[in-house]
Amino acid sequence: MSRPESIENRWDILYRDYPEVYEAFSNTPYHPTVYEQLSGIIDLRGKSIADVGAGTGSSSLALAQYAGKVIGIEREAAMLRQAQEKVQGDGVRRVTFLSGDALTLPLADNSVDLVTGITLALYPPKQYRDFIREGLRVAKGSLIYIGISPGWYGGDLYDVIEGVEKVDDEVDHIFIEEFQFAFQDIFSNQAYGTVEHIVSTYGFIFGKKVIEYLKRESKTTIRWKFRVYWRE
Ligand SMILES: C[S@@+](CC[C@H](N)C(=O)[O-])C[C@H]1O[C@@H](n2cnc3c(N)ncnc32)[C@H](O)[C@@H]1O
Repeated sequence: MSRPESIENRWDILYRDYPEVYEAFSNTPYHPTVYEQLSGIIDLRGKSIADVGAGTGSSSLALAQYAGKVIGIEREAAMLRQAQEKVQGDGVRRVTFLSGDALTLPLADNSVDLVTGITLALYPPKQYRDFIREGLRVAKGSLIYIGISPGWYGGDLYDVIEGVEKVDDEVDHIFIEEFQFAFQDIFSNQAYGTVEHIVSTYGFIFGKKVIEYLKRESKTTIRWKFRVYWRE
């Protein structure tokens, strides 16, 4: 398949047709990592975690550095395949992956300590209501969601990104106002190293306008503001 210059924020196309680009994007190093900061907010040590929307497995593997056991749940077959290959290759025993939907989790009531959704990015946002009900059903302890803070879609290039419905305010309202989650903002810088790498991963996802900007400014680092939401 010949690759377009950008998928212009069509994450569904990214997950289905370019899981290797998602993998390169998610593996570009973050400092400090979301997981270092999360472990300072919620005690993850020794816990069993269902990581919903596991993607190519980056979040599940990172959580497993702290947790006792992680089950990654993912509905897109192409993403799940990459995640499964990764654990086989690494021989990671405490991480398994399951095909499943965030809105009807394939797990029994109170069957894990924690449920996480790490940038699960459900669309349309009303789907978070079902995810929250399901997460609270399955978790003995907290349901944790990490999303993008309102006004930070695409990180510090929010204002450059065009042609996408920005839904983070609506997501924020569902977690905080409707379901009374606690929350805390965290920052992380993602260093791509070269303009070529940022253009072919971040630029490929976020659009041609962004690619023009990255090249013009020789920008290779993205600053992100994430919001950690949690509820017992
Ligand atoms: C932005 S990626 C995050 C992946 C991973 N958590 C990480 O941090 O790298 C979102 C993932 O959630 C998955 N996803 C979206 N909606 C889903 C649903 N209803 N059920 C299960 N997975 C879903 C997508 O297929 C995608 O792999």
